[in-house]
Amino acid sequence: MPTALVTGANRGLGLEFVKQIHAQGWRVYACCRNPSSADSLLQLAQDSGGRVTIHTLAVDNASQLSKLALELKDQPLDLLINNAGIYSGRNGERFGMCSTDEWLKVFQVNTLAPLRVTEAFVENVAQSELKIIANITSKMGSLGDNTSGGAYMYRSSKAALNMVVKSMAHDLEPQGIKVALLHPGWVKTDMGGPNALISPQQSVAGMLKILLNLGWQDSGRFLAYDGKEIAW
Ligand SMILES: NC(=O)c1ccc[n+]([C@@H]2O[C@H](COP(=O)([O-])OP(=O)(O)OC[C@H]3O[C@@H](n4cnc5c(N)ncnc54)[C@H](OP(=O)(O)O)[C@@H]3O)[C@@H](O)[C@H]2O)c1
Repeated sequence: MPTALVTGANRGLGLEFVKQIHAQGWRVYACCRNPSSADSLLQLAQDSGGRVTIHTLAVDNASQLSKLALELKDQPLDLLINNAGIYSGRNGERFGMCSTDEWLKVFQVNTLAPLRVTEAFVENVAQSELKIIANITSKMGSLGDNTSGGAYMYRSSKAALNMVVKSMAHDLEPQGIKVALLHPGWVKTDMGGPNALISPQQSVAGMLKILLNLGWQDSGRFLAYDGKEIAW
């Protein structure tokens, strides 16, 4: 049975990833910061016959990460999804308004954590059949697409993530690992808000289609959920 690990799995796109991957008959390790209050995920895990398990992981917490890596040692992971992310909000992200502490926090979660999580589980992915690592970025991290300014912290954290992922794609190729970089679209989640254009179901269905058909030519490419390439 193929296996996946998803970060930020308690709500939004992460929860939808767990739902759709589980529905395809996979084993899913669903990670979140506060399992006891992850009601929808707890229900899903309870109904899954043991195929969905919940694990405590704040992606910027090094000791939680090493504890989980030890727990899952020698467990192959076909698909690792670095999904957890934060956007601290438009007002605090305007010119002249960015707090240094907040900016560093956004970088910890959006940029450093996907690398740290990948380093922690790379051997698990290398031992699997599919060997895919997915990173959820944003079109807001595209320099070419920035026609409106603002969002300094979020934009810079995702632009930097894109570079991190490009390097990982090169570095992990010798181990047979493909590394995907996906923009989910503007999605109706807590982060995307109610005016967003697509549902989590549409976004995740599109991203999974890409991931399960990922070729070497797609490793390290900046793709949207509908398969369109995005300018760096
Ligand atoms: N929605 C969009 O339109 C959109 C567009 C482009 C890119 N994205 C990207 O898609 C990904 C998922 O976004 P979403 O829309 O599902 O957002 P969301 O609804 O706000 O959910 C964010 C998830 O990330 C988790 N998270 C935040 N900080 C974390 C940490 N330190 N450790 C572990 N988990 C943490 C949250 O957990 P808690 O519940 O504990 O806070 C939550 O599960 C993000 O990387 C985001 O940047 C979203």
